[in-house]
Amino acid sequence: MEHGEAAVFLRNQIVPQRSQLGRELKKKIRDRSAKVGVVGLGYVGLPLAVEMARKGYQVTGIDLMREKVDAVNSGMSYVLDVPSETLLSFVSANKIRATQSLAAVEKLDTLNICVPTPLRKNKDPDLSYVIAAVEAIRNHIRPGQLIVLESTTYPGTTREIVLPILEESGLKVGHDFFLAYSPERVDPGNQKYTTHNIPKVVGGVTARCTEVAVLLYEQFVESVIAVSSTDSAEMVKLLENTFRSVNIALANEMALTCHSLGINVWEVINAAKTKPFGFMPFYPGPGLGGHCIPIDPYYLTWKARMNGCEPRLIELAGHINSQMPAFTVRLIADALNEKGKTLKGSRILGLGVSYKRDTNDVRESPALQILEGLHGKGASIYFSDPYVSSINIKENTIKSIDLTAETLRSMDCVVILTDHSSVDYALVAKFSRLIVDTRNALQGYSRSDVVVL
Ligand SMILES: NC(=O)c1ccc[n+]([C@@H]2O[C@H](COP(=O)([O-])OP(=O)(O)OC[C@H]3O[C@@H](n4cnc5c(N)ncnc54)[C@H](O)[C@@H]3O)[C@@H](O)[C@H]2O)c1
Repeated sequence: MEHGEAAVFLRNQIVPQRSQLGRELKKKIRDRSAKVGVVGLGYVGLPLAVEMARKGYQVTGIDLMREKVDAVNSGMSYVLDVPSETLLSFVSANKIRATQSLAAVEKLDTLNICVPTPLRKNKDPDLSYVIAAVEAIRNHIRPGQLIVLESTTYPGTTREIVLPILEESGLKVGHDFFLAYSPERVDPGNQKYTTHNIPKVVGGVTARCTEVAVLLYEQFVESVIAVSSTDSAEMVKLLENTFRSVNIALANEMALTCHSLGINVWEVINAAKTKPFGFMPFYPGPGLGGHCIPIDPYYLTWKARMNGCEPRLIELAGHINSQMPAFTVRLIADALNEKGKTLKGSRILGLGVSYKRDTNDVRESPALQILEGLHGKGASIYFSDPYVSSINIKENTIKSIDLTAETLRSMDCVVILTDHSSVDYALVAKFSRLIVDTRNALQGYSRSDVVVL
């Protein structure tokens, strides 16, 4: 939208007094008459939409993908943490509806933006989804709206990127509209902590922005923590995920060191965690996956470098973690070698391919890299995952196979890549000829020859 158009747009509106806008919005938020919107109906946006509907709001979900919009409108959930019955009950009660049209923004009072923030090939931040969403919102923005960015990003994004685009509308932040950042901390597959009881950090561009955004979240989240700026709120999320990346890298380095010394790293960690203070256990694994931990630290290192700071520890952690899939392939090759077999020609079953336990998300999953590595060395690869029906390896679609005694017996090696809780590990322990366990899932099962990470 051009500046001239924005002025016309504003002149044609009956705009309440600026000072009243915040008061009116807060009243609507409190009495649930606010029409709330979620832009991006993925792993983050859909649970958020459901939580808002649960607290009595009428929610409009906006997504560019027709399949997701159609699925939501027919009450069919594609996010494991959101049961279809729950979604259907809100859709049937007209509490949730989805649309592909960003024009819906005009009718909404609040908007939470939950679009992807991936990396470019060179590991620089890719804000193209955020920018596209914000530009579309700018074209339909009206006075009195609250806009909150939830996508994970580097400090400064809301103030330096989002705000200038929205102000191209001619509206002024803190007066005509309210803008805040609130990091999303949802942990897919976590039954104990979900959207309503994970504390929410909020930072507004102005004090009034913070006030309105805090009020919105207080309606459906048990605890809300206000920080002084959007930059601080953005940095909170990057600290949390960098903390995980660095500590997982330490656990992975411990695993490699223990392996070279013939020590079981799992036994060491389990004993170390008995210390009641000053130690928090992190565990090794076949590599990092998902849309957060492998990606978010690079948002921070990019911004740090732009400001003359060299974040070496964070980059080293990323490097160590990225070596784990290749190490796992070597571990499997060595285990087969011990049995007098070569990787080439062996039948290998990957057990669990999503990036973490009890989810169906295969984005950035190290399992895919490992299966691809095994395939590249001439192994015949198979997989079994109760939550993932098919994966693509080198342009071939492979379908999940049932975990039966016959399947297990027919494999030269079973490699546990993700420890889903519904898998029958007793069956795996009983019928597999050779097992490589990257998650210590077979601890406690009577089998002494399991090769652990
Ligand atoms: N998945 C997680 O566990 C998790 C946890 C915390 C934070 N986050 C962060 O939350 C953000 C969203 O992640 P996600 O996992 O939900 O992603 P996702 O890919 O599951 O969902 C994003 C959705 O946004 C839609 N979209 C993209 N551009 C759009 C646009 N311009 N307008 C409308 N819709 C658009 C996509 O079609 C998609 O459905 C990311 O920044 C991520 O880092 C994710």
